[in-house]
Amino acid sequence: MTTKFLDFLNKFSETEWLEAVEELLPEIHEVDRNAVQIWFRFYPLALFRYLENAEDKAKAIQKFVMQGDFELKDQIDSSHKFLYGHRFWKETKDAIVAHAESNSNEDGDLKSVVKEIAGQAAQAAKTKECLTKSIVLAGLMTLVQVGFDSFKSSEGKIYIDAKEVKKSAKEILAARAKDDSQGIFGFLKTIDKKFTITYDETLRAGKFNIINDEEIASASARNQTQNWLDKDARCVEGVVPVECRSAACGTCWVVVLGGQEKLSEVSDRERRQMKVFGYNQPADEKPFMRLACQARAFGNASVVIPPWNGVFGKKVYGNVEEIELEPATTSAAKLRETISQAVGSE
Ligand code: FES
Repeated sequence: MTTKFLDFLNKFSETEWLEAVEELLPEIHEVDRNAVQIWFRFYPLALFRYLENAEDKAKAIQKFVMQGDFELKDQIDSSHKFLYGHRFWKETKDAIVAHAESNSNEDGDLKSVVKEIAGQAAQAAKTKECLTKSIVLAGLMTLVQVGFDSFKSSEGKIYIDAKEVKKSAKEILAARAKDDSQGIFGFLKTIDKKFTITYDETLRAGKFNIINDEEIASASARNQTQNWLDKDARCVEGVVPVECRSAACGTCWVVVLGGQEKLSEVSDRERRQMKVFGYNQPADEKPFMRLACQARAFGNASVVIPPWNGVFGKKVYGNVEEIELEPATTSAAKLRETISQAVGSE
């Protein structure tokens, strides 16, 4: 019997979950402070509930031009692999299952439950609670979206390269803070400075080069070390999925684990389009959510590429009036047309 715990978790809205995440941030290790906020933007509860309650889910998915893996049920163990706390996923999952199965009355708030389970997971994993709170938060939201039976029966697998898993949180933070050396005459260089974008911290080879002041999407397109299309049908150029290259389609969104201050400021157009797409971009001048076709880099940064993209801001959040589309002159014309129909109908 797990009903009481699920009923308790289901009481909270997306806004309440995000508030709990924000209030817990000071107690979460710096290595996962961006990561946990990012994870909740990858799997928005409002979008999940909208699709689950839709009269015709398949039609709604089509209207939102959803592409990629947006459902947690297909990635219970892997969705949070970019969190440092992912290392403690097995212990965390077991602690959540035990808590749900105890079926005790929940009289606390969301934060108290997270703290209690994070303590148990940390004890089992022989680590600190500040390193398990982020993964507990992700685990609880996963439970909400996949249900108890699927959650319990997942393998509890860890998806980090064997060498990378040994790195401490301190080492990861130090790597994120570093910029590539420009050589002894680096101070004379202006336009030809070169930096590194890490797109997957869990892989040793998860990086590509970027030229000073270049957009992340253009730099990604120059990295042809793998057949990216084989891995993800959205990756027509490089590891970062792209389509329009003009902030019109939402395909290229990326999130920043470290180095967001070394990216260009957000333009009004990018800001507005993020709302159209439904991506919950924080209001900062240099937020941790960006469009790779717009964000230019002036140093190293570590990003995560979301496993999906879509356009659902108006229907799910009601936070935009109209979508402004440029004349359809590129290969993205068909996609924009679909977006236009999706936003304008229903
Ligand atoms: S590629 Fe379309 S928004 Fe960036």
